[in-house]
Amino acid sequence: MRVVDTSAESIARAAAALGRGHLVAFPTETVYGLGADGLDPAAVAGIFKAKGRPEDHPLILHVASLERARALAADFPPAAEILARAFWPGPLTLILKRAAHVPDVVTGGQDTVGVRIPGHPAALALLEAFGKVGSGVVAAPSANRFGGVSPTRARDVLASIGDRLGVDDMILDGGECQVGVESTIVDVSAVERVGVRILRPGGISRQEILQVIGAGTSLPSAGAAPRVSGSLASHYSPLTPLRLLARQDLIKAVKAAQQANPDVRLACVVFSALRDKAEASLVGSSAAVTSEILVAMDPVAYARDLYARLNDLDTQGFDTILIESPPQTAEWEAVNDRLIRAAH
Ligand code: TXA
Ligand code: MG
Repeated sequence: MRVVDTSAESIARAAAALGRGHLVAFPTETVYGLGADGLDPAAVAGIFKAKGRPEDHPLILHVASLERARALAADFPPAAEILARAFWPGPLTLILKRAAHVPDVVTGGQDTVGVRIPGHPAALALLEAFGKVGSGVVAAPSANRFGGVSPTRARDVLASIGDRLGVDDMILDGGECQVGVESTIVDVSAVERVGVRILRPGGISRQEILQVIGAGTSLPSAGAAPRVSGSLASHYSPLTPLRLLARQDLIKAVKAAQQANPDVRLACVVFSALRDKAEASLVGSSAAVTSEILVAMDPVAYARDLYARLNDLDTQGFDTILIESPPQTAEWEAVNDRLIRAAH
């Protein structure tokens, strides 16, 4: 396995590797994906093996053009057309009725397929280059071991699955992902019967989607949705125990942990300093071993940095990571979704 930059030569080599059935981890605007030729069942099987992912969990297919996206679907309804034109390239995945040639290993045997055009220049360059030497269709889940925190930097990919990649596999290092949480998954496969459904909140907000498909359209989150691995209660979890707490509960938890063990190593991710004024008395003197990570009250910046922060904290030997709950408002939906799963 080699880690390479995103120069034209590296992209060409990566496209050739995909064509030979190897795996290529690549940056997208959301998270790094672990890619394989999406129309080659043997290559796609390699993704499941490297991730340790159950084989009935479907994968998203990535393409560089609307034309290729349409070709993967048996039906591309008007709602898909509208959403695609509004948000592609970008952090939106559409669930569509699958075309017959989409392999079962991609869809988990379902009659639908997830498709997206990513908004990262290196991802688009890879998909375009692979369109010239191969199918131009890249199946890619997030490039982490199954259940773990998604990677937003090449080094996180390396740490999570580097030892599971083969000698001919590659990691394209395109720097840090700018959206930082996965794409919003919107199911338009049964729009005639049940309308447009959001299966996973993500880089595009519910309001942005509502604005585009028109007011008056209901947007239920699917409860008993098709299998979505990101909808498992426990997912996106660091190895270090993680608790998501309202501020006052977080302060109590710090105090209790320090009383039980003065040397306990806690990481607190908070919106303002714990050891100020009124709260100073609550947080004990041994707070020297408690790290405070101050974060801005900004859902876009929070999402961008979330996985990198969790991946970093996970390597620093903390006993527990305590995270102050963000507001329960619409613009925090994707962040809250990931935090709740990480804390499960
Ligand atoms: O931002 C993203 O979506 C990233 C980047 C790499 O594109 N990919 C990603 O893939 O998050 P993954 O495999 O970690 O999550 C994809 C989700 C899974 O929860 C999967 O179950 C769901 O998409 N999915 C894929 N095809 C589906 C289908 N036909 N029906 C319902 N859910 C589907
Ligand atoms: Mg994932």
